[in-house]
Amino acid sequence: MKRKTENQMLVIFGASGDLTARKLVPALYSLYAEDQLPEHFVVLGTSRSDMTDADFRNQVVLESDYLKEKLKNSDEAKTKKFAEMFFYQDLGESYGVDYASLRERVGQLNDEKRTQGNIMYYLSTPPRLYETIAKNLAEAGLSTQNNGWKRLIVEKPFGYSLETAKALNQGLQEHFKESQIYRIDHYLGKETVQNLLVTRFANSIFEPLWNRNYIKHVEITNAESVGVEKRGGYYDKSGALRDMFQNHLLQIVSLIVMEPPIGDEPEEIRDEKVKALKSLRIMRDEKTLHDNTIRAQYIASDIQGKIVKGYREEEDVDAESTTETFAAIKFFVDNWRWKDVPFYVRTAKRMPTKVTEVVIHFKSPHHQIFKESGIQNKDNKLIIRIQPDEGILIKFGVKVPGQGFKVERANLDFYYSSLMEAHVMEAYERLLLDAMQGDATLYARADEVEAAWEFVDPILDYWQNGKDVRMYGYPSGTWGPRNSDELIEGEGYWRNPGENLTDDENYCVLC
Ligand code: BG6
Repeated sequence: MKRKTENQMLVIFGASGDLTARKLVPALYSLYAEDQLPEHFVVLGTSRSDMTDADFRNQVVLESDYLKEKLKNSDEAKTKKFAEMFFYQDLGESYGVDYASLRERVGQLNDEKRTQGNIMYYLSTPPRLYETIAKNLAEAGLSTQNNGWKRLIVEKPFGYSLETAKALNQGLQEHFKESQIYRIDHYLGKETVQNLLVTRFANSIFEPLWNRNYIKHVEITNAESVGVEKRGGYYDKSGALRDMFQNHLLQIVSLIVMEPPIGDEPEEIRDEKVKALKSLRIMRDEKTLHDNTIRAQYIASDIQGKIVKGYREEEDVDAESTTETFAAIKFFVDNWRWKDVPFYVRTAKRMPTKVTEVVIHFKSPHHQIFKESGIQNKDNKLIIRIQPDEGILIKFGVKVPGQGFKVERANLDFYYSSLMEAHVMEAYERLLLDAMQGDATLYARADEVEAAWEFVDPILDYWQNGKDVRMYGYPSGTWGPRNSDELIEGEGYWRNPGENLTDDENYCVLC
């Protein structure tokens, strides 16, 4: 289904940075190759670097390592045409001075390239510059919509705490209307995350069971095998809770928890997500925080003969850092649907593999008829694999052929890869296209971001202000500290894909 994308200009702030080359330009190239870009479209990169249009084209298109693979299927003329969409404007040292030249350049490109005054600004600078840029754009008359629309995409992190997120919302809203602001969370661009909505609301078999009467607990794991790589400086001030949990994982939680929206309009969906986030039970006292949160750091280890550094030895990380690279949180949702159903969410770097999955654990049948079934403690599960091997798996009991009623676990599965004809868009590709078309469904609204921070703030306070003395270590390449098992003990164990699986589960390809 193709919607209309109006002619427009994309102005990227922080264009010499990694995100432009790594994510934005490859996403734009895919849109270009699929003929999804409008007829008149230009990209104006800006940053503090001194570059010409030609330098910029070389850096982000022609010589880019990130585009090499995609360009293999392109001929020279096609690549040249793509590169010619890119222009560059040096914005001076402080991002605060030269908006007159920017306005002139935008005006000139708009006239020459017929982009009809429609401009999308993409903020991919350090977050402390977001407000300054918005203010300067507004003062230069570059945010008014009397001649074409103006939109502002804001990269994460959006705030550092509830207070800073509120201040940032307020600061941006002084210069841009909320309807012009698109807060990006790339997890919402993932096809499988969006599929959570479809699984729940386009089928009549799941929703009747999607509540406290049938669901025992919900488990979400986000594991990465990489460490902090070259981002130690950023990560050490952020940590797993801010970097992954406050945004990506709470977005997933909101889609699991939310009530059915009345329709698929952006505000209808976002209203329900906000309501869901507001119903998370905030942990306020130290005992609750102690019993329901665990943090840890990866320590050096030997992974298949290779010595991997511990977190505190990483580049730009404080040797005495208390920043967590593992976070596991147990919480409840205070509403009619979810009362007393525990949610267990964990995220970490340097785990054995890269995987994100949601596991809905269903309750056992109230009355067990098949006493020798051998199926106790093997309740029905719905596993939604966000990445990799995107798909869905249902685990249910079947009779083992032969005498008696021995029950075994069987799997019903679906893989996205089996939809051969479907092109699964990369998250940035999908999100850029949506914003270009003015669809904010997959972007976070101001109140959504604030509700997420409201839940996270007390945990951060507990962890960071000397109230929690526990900081566990876990060897790189393992599933986190042993203590995190205690958090979920009442329910059994964490589903560590590839581990802890009973014999009948091992044959599952999704595992
Ligand atoms: C980013 C975090 O938002 O998401 C990174 O800053 C993390 O630390 C990344 O590695 C994970 O994204 P994905 O799409 O690879 O799961």
